[in-house]
Amino acid sequence: MLKVFSFKDSDGSHLDKNLRGLIDRRKRVLGPAYQLFYSSPLHLVKGAGAVVWDAEGRSYLDLYNNVPSVGHCHPRVLAAMQEQASAINTHTRYLHEKVVNYAERLLATMPAVLSNAMFTCTASEANDLALRIARDYTGGTGVIVTSYAYHGITSAVAEVSPSMGDYVPIGRDVRVVPAPRQNTGSSEQVGKIFAEEVKAAIKEMRRYGVKPAALLLDTIFHSDGILTDPPGFLAEAVRVFRQEGGLFIADEVQPGFGRTGKTMWGFERHDVIPDIVTMGKPMGNGHPMGGLAIKANVLDKFAHNAAYFNTFGGNPVSAAVGLAVLDVIRDEGLMANAELVGEYLKVGLQSYATECSHLGEIRGSGLFIGVDIVNNNGEDDPEAAKRLVEDLRENGALIGVTGPSASVLKIRPPLCLSKEQATSFLSIFDGSLKRCFAEG
Ligand SMILES: Cc1ncc(COP(=O)(O)O)c(C=O)c1O
Repeated sequence: MLKVFSFKDSDGSHLDKNLRGLIDRRKRVLGPAYQLFYSSPLHLVKGAGAVVWDAEGRSYLDLYNNVPSVGHCHPRVLAAMQEQASAINTHTRYLHEKVVNYAERLLATMPAVLSNAMFTCTASEANDLALRIARDYTGGTGVIVTSYAYHGITSAVAEVSPSMGDYVPIGRDVRVVPAPRQNTGSSEQVGKIFAEEVKAAIKEMRRYGVKPAALLLDTIFHSDGILTDPPGFLAEAVRVFRQEGGLFIADEVQPGFGRTGKTMWGFERHDVIPDIVTMGKPMGNGHPMGGLAIKANVLDKFAHNAAYFNTFGGNPVSAAVGLAVLDVIRDEGLMANAELVGEYLKVGLQSYATECSHLGEIRGSGLFIGVDIVNNNGEDDPEAAKRLVEDLRENGALIGVTGPSASVLKIRPPLCLSKEQATSFLSIFDGSLKRCFAEG
């Protein structure tokens, strides 16, 4: 099960009557499958930039959310949405200028060979569609993913998402490889080890008569623990997989749209050009949008055999929102901000690590930072990570955890986080460290 620190009913005796009442009503109608963050769940009612407010009017610095990536409730995004929704909303079976504009603008951020765009409403759908196309193009069925990957919620992508746990079986033609965890050594060295794993998985696949179709990778390996370095380590594995006739699908849901600072897309850090790029979350800044960019020759065969229609994917309102998100990233210099503020945060966190032995390795690129929390023996310490996340929440800062044992702090704010806000966060973090690790 993808690990989140979820509220348990038994934790709820300390909550005030209103909050408890809402939790109970929610459970009655939504049922038991949903989770809530924190032992005191948050009831958020407002957001602006990198700040959110709860129903009591208390503010929190949001260093968790990758969806409102250009900032909660960004006025330009809202205005674009309202303007288009007031004119008309249709679908891709009618012509609309904005949909074409958006595809052109989005594709212009990618290498030219990725010359076609297709739209969905979620990233799960985008990965689902990418797998269908890859299987069609290659005539294979085999997929390789990393051992704690998450690629979405439909049946087809749940079976390539090992992080969902034992109850959600991995598909029979799916093979898992360890994520490239070691960040020491050159990109060639790390890349070679990862490529060897991919080679072994292909061999094993072939042994069972399965032909490779797709190497599907989150290019920042966020659920595997946020694995960013050394840039370039993906190239060899992609080369090996292509040699066997398979395609490389880059899942850009997490690193995409400028999060890593220097580059718009995670795959660019690794100097590889995917055959298919899948996108979601930050694409619409909270408006449900997903999609893919694809090489035209890869799409051709699929398109010949199966027309594509997605009622809401690629509608003009979404296109208007998507255009506004791209405009804001450009006009507000959000990539440069992600690089600058991300580095500032990383350096600040590193300075605490010299004092506190429970902060292990700190990794990251731009505004996506992972911090290993370890015990006195240097082992993963999910309980301590949970204490820290809870304490930060109590003191006005939101982050999350990730990684196979949920012991990696996930710091991933909207890209507009200012240096002043980063300073405030570091100071809250310092207090939490002192409280959670009293011995320092
Ligand atoms: C890497 C990755 N791919 C795909 C998805 C699925 O996105 P959605 O929930 O929008 O379908 C997620 C969601 O967390 C993700 O992190």
